[in-house]
Amino acid sequence: MKRLICYSVFLLALSAIFSSCRNNTGGVAGASDSTAKKGITKTAWGQSDSKDVFLYTLTNAKGNQVQISNYGGTVTHFIVPDKNGNKNSIVVGYDSLNGYLAHPPYFGALVGRYGNRIGNAQFTLDGKTYKLAANNGKNSLHGGIKGFDKVVWDATTVNDTMPLLTLTYQSKDGEEGFPGNLKVTVQYTFTDNDELKIEYNAVTDKATPINLTNHSYFNLTGDVSNTILNHTLQINADNYTPVDTSLITTGEIKLVKGTPFDFTTPMKIGARIDLVKGGYDHNFVLNSKGGSLQLAATLTDSISGRKLEVFTTEPGLQFYTGNFLDGKLTNHDGKPINQHSALCMETQHFPDSPNKPQFPSCILRPGSTYHTVTVYKVSVEK
Ligand code: BGC
Repeated sequence: MKRLICYSVFLLALSAIFSSCRNNTGGVAGASDSTAKKGITKTAWGQSDSKDVFLYTLTNAKGNQVQISNYGGTVTHFIVPDKNGNKNSIVVGYDSLNGYLAHPPYFGALVGRYGNRIGNAQFTLDGKTYKLAANNGKNSLHGGIKGFDKVVWDATTVNDTMPLLTLTYQSKDGEEGFPGNLKVTVQYTFTDNDELKIEYNAVTDKATPINLTNHSYFNLTGDVSNTILNHTLQINADNYTPVDTSLITTGEIKLVKGTPFDFTTPMKIGARIDLVKGGYDHNFVLNSKGGSLQLAATLTDSISGRKLEVFTTEPGLQFYTGNFLDGKLTNHDGKPINQHSALCMETQHFPDSPNKPQFPSCILRPGSTYHTVTVYKVSVEK
């Protein structure tokens, strides 16, 4: 009997430890210990292209954490408290590299060389036509077949006033059809104010289009079984860029006023989504016009009390309501990722800019430096 009691106590203790790892971290076991020390740690995470892959955990002074892999510069977990102090991850992601090697639709990925679509998978620059792989119908999407989301980046870390992860990647002349050797550096910082700051830099030796973004899928409840249609969104954009049936911008810039695209005041995402064929998957023309770091969008959720603010120096924001998610993939906690169970707010230049001279230019030339900044800031409203 005594032995049986001991055994049951042991089992109970084990299951308590297991469930606390799952609930608190939503990620690598033990990663989101609330007593975790501020800084950055590195865990071996497997291999891709015969290169070592790591998972980096950035912990701020509050013990909140962002986990990022140098495979695809992927943000796998963004672990912050809700209004009751319970921590879980507000982004869709996996606990192991294998999930990412199966090529999910850009979960948390660092997207490039050209984020979003290029019509007919080609563009003409300085009189020369460049052909890209058509990996999305007849169009090119998110950098092509093997974009920056599927390569292993070199990584360095700094444990200074803030945990800082620097990723670099040398994209070769002709890679995925793009001209020029492009050297890309991306810095991820996680501040004590729960801001994930992403700073993108690049230089090239030939003129090339460039449009780097992060493709995190957010669900502020931290539970993909809750739809994001109940989240409330405000976008500081009086205009958007309409698209054709293959989601290529038509070249027009239209007022959002009087349309389901009007998020200039806070609006429930689900309120008018039925009026938008296929759901939201559109570029919003930010009133800031890009250049300086300004508030682009504010997302709130009443279940968790969480608020997410997006600041960017980019002129555009792709608001995508996870229309093509279909429940076949499961989140790190085993829950199916259904349509509208997560949303993306991708800061960017406008889709198909290389073929739309009327849009802000996305061309980087030798001698210039590409530099953009985006900040995802989370807070709680009680
Ligand atoms: C695009 C969607 C696409 C998704 C995943 C988004 O950036 O706008 O159309 O389905 O990425 O690839």
